[in-house]
Amino acid sequence: MPDNPQTNADLSALPIGMFDSGVGGLTVLHECLVTMPQEDFVYFADTARFPYGEKTAAELELFAGQIAAFLERTGVKLIVAACYSATSAALPMLQERFSTPIVGVVMPGARAAVQSSRYRRIGVMATEATVASGAYVRAIHSLDSGAEVIQEACPGLVTFIQDGDIASQELTDAVRGFTAPLKERRPDVVIMGCTHYPLVAPMLQRHLGRDVSLVNPAVEIAREVEETLARQGVSRDGEREGTYSFCSTGDVESFRTVGARFLQMPIAAVRHVSLAELEAGDE
Ligand code: DGL
Repeated sequence: MPDNPQTNADLSALPIGMFDSGVGGLTVLHECLVTMPQEDFVYFADTARFPYGEKTAAELELFAGQIAAFLERTGVKLIVAACYSATSAALPMLQERFSTPIVGVVMPGARAAVQSSRYRRIGVMATEATVASGAYVRAIHSLDSGAEVIQEACPGLVTFIQDGDIASQELTDAVRGFTAPLKERRPDVVIMGCTHYPLVAPMLQRHLGRDVSLVNPAVEIAREVEETLARQGVSRDGEREGTYSFCSTGDVESFRTVGARFLQMPIAAVRHVSLAELEAGDE
């Protein structure tokens, strides 16, 4: 419990904090905006240290802890760890360390996959860090110990998508290479376990085939956040349009340009937060 418990009215007025390694988590923000248009959001992008998918678990714990400390200081009522790599490596540590409720992105998608999988063979496409952590295997097995989990790490896929390369032959070849071994093991559900993959969902569907259901965990996360706020009695009133603010550790202009493409709406002000400020706030 926090030292100075706030009233529900105080908490309702606070924004939801969200963080990711960069622009990718905007696919999660998008789903949250569709589900909770009345809420305010503060989105933190650690673009200076992107990509997270190639980092070690220890690095991800350090970065996620620094960002959660920053968001908690800013004043948020809930934190969404919108990065699959960061959630996989750092969610238990974050939840032990901070008093603000923290929702990660792995469990909501795992739950949806377990519910949708008729044959209990669940594929997971994700970064190397997410696959190495085993977080999806643990999450799925906590819900269905007998489900088969078929993981496929997809190194480099994020970069193609982020560079806007979504109709290139190189991307098509890469997707074919990642989906072929998955398909051989015949999953009936595949989780898009990385922030960037929903942007190429049609291509993934084409390569995996009509019989495979793709799970976009972002949709489930939005539902989980909405439900959590409602159960805690700290949702915002539905009669308003929320505000969105953005922080980036890297170049603000490129966050604005690439971010607008991911979010499909203009991004106005972006506050630059230096790594020195993040580190100093985490002592
Ligand atoms: N946001 C990361 C994730 O969902 C993908 C990009 C990265 O590697 O940083 O795992």
